[in-house]
Amino acid sequence: LPKEKTRLMTLYKYQGFWYNALWLEGVLECQPHFQAQDTDILLATTPKSGTTWLKALMFTLVNRKDCPIITEDHPLVTTNPQDLVPNLEFDLYANNQVPDLASFASPRLFSTHLPFTSLPKSVHESACKLVYLCRDPKDVFVSLWHFSNKLRPQNLDIIAFEETFHKYCKGVSFYGPFWDHILGYWNESLRNPEKMLFLKYEDMKEQPRLHLRRLAQFMHCPFSAKEETEGVVDEILRLCSFGNLRNLEVNKDGKLSSGFENSAFFRRGEVGDWKNYLTAEMGDQLDEIIEEKKKRHGVGQREPA
Ligand code: A3P
Repeated sequence: LPKEKTRLMTLYKYQGFWYNALWLEGVLECQPHFQAQDTDILLATTPKSGTTWLKALMFTLVNRKDCPIITEDHPLVTTNPQDLVPNLEFDLYANNQVPDLASFASPRLFSTHLPFTSLPKSVHESACKLVYLCRDPKDVFVSLWHFSNKLRPQNLDIIAFEETFHKYCKGVSFYGPFWDHILGYWNESLRNPEKMLFLKYEDMKEQPRLHLRRLAQFMHCPFSAKEETEGVVDEILRLCSFGNLRNLEVNKDGKLSSGFENSAFFRRGEVGDWKNYLTAEMGDQLDEIIEEKKKRHGVGQREPA
């Protein structure tokens, strides 16, 4: 196999989850070296769950005093959210580097796709906070398939849809099994609601104001009465909306610091797009897997706080 294909597309199992060689290097580097601070806030997701959206929201919430929302020079106008909230294993600890994070202002915002059980020890030991965003795996699968095709080296054939689907159902996908990823964070949000907030993409779409307020409260930057009257909640939602972000010049033509195209992070941004790609049987198959795992782990009997 060509070296680049091996590094990007071949998956290796580590601590019960699947990684490509490129990301695994960053995982192995950040696990022993990342020192979480009590004031840090980490966003955890599986790839294609809406990480970009949450990064934009979390960055805007935390920085809203210094970066007024209605200005032409808000950081989101010139920078893709991926670069505003760096990922531990892809960005900071990639290429066998141990970064100096001393210059990061508090509260530091980071993201990760690591499963709960593989987070660096200091994340568990410190009082840092965790936000998890979960999305319907059917939509995640479709989004992931599109994204992987963009990621693949151009000399390679398009990624086989059905074969990738069957692997996904067996848990073999980037950071899969997806059910173990979700359940790890779900259980923690029940055990430790002070530390962990569990959000769902679909809920955020349906009741964005409610969940943005929950997020702000959790991140220790709740909306003041003045902000509520001034409509700051809606301003943030508009700034970070799919339509607004996708149409910014930086996200049409720009590239991430890693060289990846910003536009790849904005495709449809909808709930239920899976219906345009999966057959009803495939949809049922994924639903059954999810139901079976939920039942086995007692999910649904108790909601997180
Ligand atoms: P689709 O491929 O279904 O459109 P991630 O950020 O974790 O890589 O996830 C990418 C998915 O989130 C893509 O889903 C993308 O279109 C969607 N997305 C990006 N920005 C969004 C936003 N501001 N609001 C809602 N969805 C968004």
